[in-house]
Amino acid sequence: MPVVLISTISPSGKTNLGPYSLCFPYIIAEKHSMLLISRSTSNTAENIRRSKVCAINFIPYNKKLLKNCVMLGYPGETTEEKMKNNKFTLIPSQRTQEERVPTISYPEIIEEAIQVFESTLDESFPVYSNDITLESHFILSINKIVMKKEWKECLIEGKGFPNLPIDFGYRDNINFWFSKHSTPYAEPIPKEKGNPVHTVI
Ligand SMILES: Cc1cc2nc3c(=O)[nH]c(=O)nc-3n(C[C@H](O)[C@H](O)[C@H](O)COP(=O)(O)O)c2cc1C
Repeated sequence: MPVVLISTISPSGKTNLGPYSLCFPYIIAEKHSMLLISRSTSNTAENIRRSKVCAINFIPYNKKLLKNCVMLGYPGETTEEKMKNNKFTLIPSQRTQEERVPTISYPEIIEEAIQVFESTLDESFPVYSNDITLESHFILSINKIVMKKEWKECLIEGKGFPNLPIDFGYRDNINFWFSKHSTPYAEPIPKEKGNPVHTVI
């Protein structure tokens, strides 16, 4: 599973960072959105329900940053309490004036992130909330993708691969477990099938 830090705006207007792994593509053609499964009472869930905006920050594999990421995942802390110990660099949302709604304040994003999906709650899907298990499922429309120049170039040239952490989804009452991936190799899409590029996109 991925490891993302979701930034949202707290009721006092401060950026809150919460780590999440249950965050996957949901709609993938024409419109693009992500599914987030969160504890209903997390700061992130409450902030998304109230403010409708968030940013999904894909952090790199770096043990010091992952340690801080796990620290930001300790349940029950307010934004003010936990963000005192935040070690990630926060920079303003990269939305342009035209990409902003003037009445909305957008959360900051993480400078160290390999890519960031600046997103809005897609209210055409009702938020699934289970009052017994206390989980909520959000569909988040991706409004803007912010990607480091070096990784954008690698993507366009089909060369190079960012160092993203893997969460095995296994955890006990003491540890979270992560690993880095081995070097991926490229397996070209068969040319003889004659597929035009848009079938891949
Ligand atoms: C690596 C990692 C992945 C996590 N993934 C999830 C997840 O997918 N869903 C969830 O509800 N909680 C997840 N948690 C626990 C939340 O981070 C935790 O509930 C935390 O309090 C959320 O922060 P927030 O209240 O500021 O949103 C994860 C924690 C870590 C460290």
